[in-house]
Amino acid sequence: MTFDTDTRRDADSATVDAAAYLVAPVNERSRARLAENGLDYRLVPVTGDDYPQWLQSVARGFQDGERSDEQVASSRERSAYRRVTGVYDAAAPVADAPVATIASWIGQLTVPGGASLPSCAISAVTVAPTHRRRGIARAMLEGELGAAVSAGAPLAMLTVSESTLYGRYGFAPAAASASWRIETKRATWIGPRPDGRVDFIPRQRFRELVAPLHERVRLRVAGEIDVQGSFWDGFAGTTPTAEKAGEKRAVQYTDASGVVRGVAVYTVKENHDDFTKASVHVGYLLAETDDAYAALWRFLLELDLVAEVNAGELSVDEPLRWMIADQRAATVTLRDHQYVRILDVPAALEGRRYGAPGALALDVTDVLGHAGGRFLLTVDDGGRGTVSTWSDGAAAPDGAVEVSLGIEELSAAYLGGVSLATLAAAGRVRSTDASAAARVFSWHVAPRLSIWY
Ligand SMILES: CC(C)(COP(=O)(O)OP(=O)(O)OC[C@H]1O[C@@H](n2cnc3c(N)ncnc32)[C@H](O)[C@@H]1OP(=O)(O)O)[C@@H](O)C(=O)NCCC(=O)NCCS
Repeated sequence: MTFDTDTRRDADSATVDAAAYLVAPVNERSRARLAENGLDYRLVPVTGDDYPQWLQSVARGFQDGERSDEQVASSRERSAYRRVTGVYDAAAPVADAPVATIASWIGQLTVPGGASLPSCAISAVTVAPTHRRRGIARAMLEGELGAAVSAGAPLAMLTVSESTLYGRYGFAPAAASASWRIETKRATWIGPRPDGRVDFIPRQRFRELVAPLHERVRLRVAGEIDVQGSFWDGFAGTTPTAEKAGEKRAVQYTDASGVVRGVAVYTVKENHDDFTKASVHVGYLLAETDDAYAALWRFLLELDLVAEVNAGELSVDEPLRWMIADQRAATVTLRDHQYVRILDVPAALEGRRYGAPGALALDVTDVLGHAGGRFLLTVDDGGRGTVSTWSDGAAAPDGAVEVSLGIEELSAAYLGGVSLATLAAAGRVRSTDASAAARVFSWHVAPRLSIWY
């Protein structure tokens, strides 16, 4: 079969009104549940008077320091894309500081095949230590997922502080990330040496280049999302409140025809005991072409006075491994990173492409009741899937491979980051033919997410 990549952008955006989602009322069930305990769950407009205290509660919730007025103003300016909600305790001494926070927005998640589907991104989940373990986080998470379903979002997604928090709501790690520590003196570059050039650029120039470049690159890798400008300011250090921004060095790669195809930003930490052993931290590296990728990594690995290069949020299958002579020069650590939660099985499954033709009779259970049911996924020779429902009590359609799984497992396998056969071997999926199911669900590019949100 041929792998059919799809350049549909934001395929189903029309069905999700991202602007309406920002101001949609909070979920009534969660509101009532919290109200029974004397708590007020409500929207917090980013432009309103309550926003500064909300932001202070988020910082405190993550055990971070107080935000300055400048930081609050900067955050307010850059957060218009967020739906912000808080839970208030009228009996608390500082009643206008929420005891719990959550933010969300309708983002775009790239799925196998190159389509980008609306996905509810969730962030800033905190509950004050004074109010923990009373079910407040559960009420908020269920509330925001309910709002996302009402808005018609087929998916939700988040990155997490702790791995054990979100499986209970149907989220699963769908794209792992790799952190690399490379001993540069040992690595030895054996990769391509492209004809283009690497040049230093001002950080502001990096900021200008990175956003449109990422908009093009993100559709090639499942797991990537559309990135808001404030994140790029963070990488570039281009906000007025950015700390240690002057330590960031930015470079661009220009190909032989004069087009900028890649950028990177990094910092260097000196080693005062040995000036030949500084370490580099790669803040962000983005390449549109194989040449740009090779040239930028080679530049970083061959920096003088540097003994170690560190980089995070890389793919689990980086070409870089095959560009160094000594693979053991790299210590690679894997971690769960991009969590996904399917909210609408037909829309999610029809949105992606598949690795092999076949028919899967999926029996899906959903802990929260949003997306369970029986679905027949039929994949044609071009890797396109269509989904029909398969009625309760009926036998699985003839010739279809039966797969029984929870929404968590379906979400884990959705981006192609884990095989259904692996999940079956782990006792997480049952199937009449796990290998065949895995072939259909496979994808040839490892999913990746290059940021935290
Ligand atoms: C994580 C946090 C939001 C949980 O809030 P909470 O109000 O105490 O959570 P709830 O009482 O609603 O608990 C909901 C469920 O999660 C479980 N849970 C809560 N915190 C947990 C933790 N740290 N590890 C594992 N499970 C946890 C509870 O046992 C409960 O399980 P159940 O409903 O299935 O029985 C809160 O502890 C917090 O703000 N932590 C610091 C900030 C943070 O890490 N936020 C998450 C960012 S991704």
